[in-house]
Amino acid sequence: MSIKKAILPVAGLGTRFLPASKSIPKEMVTVVDRPAIEYVVKEAIAAGIEQIILVTHSSKASIENYFDSNFELETTLEKKNKFDLLKEITEILPSHVSVISVRQPQPLGLGHAVLCAKDIVGNDDFAVLLPDVLVKDADPKNDLNLMIQRFSETQASQIMVEAVPDDLVDQYGIVDVASTPEEGHSIAMQGIVEKPAIGTAPSNLSVVGRYILPSKIMQLLEKTPKGAGNEIQLTDAIAMLQDTDVVEAYRMKGQTFDCGSKIGYLKAVLHYGVDHPKLGDEFKYLIKELKL
Ligand code: G1P
Repeated sequence: MSIKKAILPVAGLGTRFLPASKSIPKEMVTVVDRPAIEYVVKEAIAAGIEQIILVTHSSKASIENYFDSNFELETTLEKKNKFDLLKEITEILPSHVSVISVRQPQPLGLGHAVLCAKDIVGNDDFAVLLPDVLVKDADPKNDLNLMIQRFSETQASQIMVEAVPDDLVDQYGIVDVASTPEEGHSIAMQGIVEKPAIGTAPSNLSVVGRYILPSKIMQLLEKTPKGAGNEIQLTDAIAMLQDTDVVEAYRMKGQTFDCGSKIGYLKAVLHYGVDHPKLGDEFKYLIKELKL
C-alpha cells in the first residue's frame, strides 16, 4: 500500500527564529504570501499524502486554524463578491486531504514527537516531514514522491539526504554509505549518526528532514534512550531499525531552504519570490533596482 499519512512535528518553540517566533509559531512566518508550513503541506500532498498529522503544542493553534475553514471570513468575502480571494483561502487544502493534530506534552525530542502520533498512524507506514526545511523542486514528481515510489517497490525505508560542507556536519544527522548516490537515487545505508563532531562524520551527506518509515519504527522509538542533546532522537531509532531492515539514503535533486535559520529564511523568500506567478517579475525588478 502506498504512503498516505505524513507526520509534521510542529511543537518546537523556534528559538533560532526569535524575536519573530515570540508570539507566532515559526511555521506561520510568511514566505512571500503564505506561511512556511503551507509549502511543506503542499509538498506532501504533491507526493500523494492524504492525511497530515501535526504533532503540536498549545501555543501553535494558529497552524490548525490556517488549515481549517473560516466561516466568518468566507461569508464576508462572498458577500463582497471577492471570489478570487475566497477561492484562494478555500483551496489551501484539497477536499481529499485532512489535517489532524495531536499534542506533544513535553519537549523530549524529534523521536518522541513522532512517537506521539503512534495511535493515529496505527499499522500504516508513513512519511515524516520536518517543516523547518522547505524543499523546492521544479519537477512535479517531487523528491518525496520518488521516495514513496522506491519504498513501495522495495519496502526499504527512505531517508532524504543532501551534501553539506564538512564544517557543518555537526548540525545534522549524517549517513554512512559506501558511495554517494546520483541525485534522485537511493543507496543502502550502513549507519546513521546524529550531529557527529566535525572530523568524525562517516560522510558529508546530511539528513534533510524527509523520511519514509515503516509503522514498526514506533515500537523502536518506545525503547530509544535519550541521545544527542539529551533528547529521544529519531536518528537513533532509525539506526536500530537497520539491525533488521534495509534503510536507504535517497539523494535529493531539489533545493533546500532552512527556514529555521534567519538567513535560510531570507534565501527562501528570494527564491520563492522570484518564481511567484503573480509577483515574480516585479520582485525581480526590485532586486535589480537594489544595485548591490
Ligand atoms: C533534526 C534531525 C537531524 C536532521 C535535521 C534536519 O535536527 O534530528 O537528523 O539532520 O533535523 O534539519 P534538528 O534540526 O531538529 O536539531
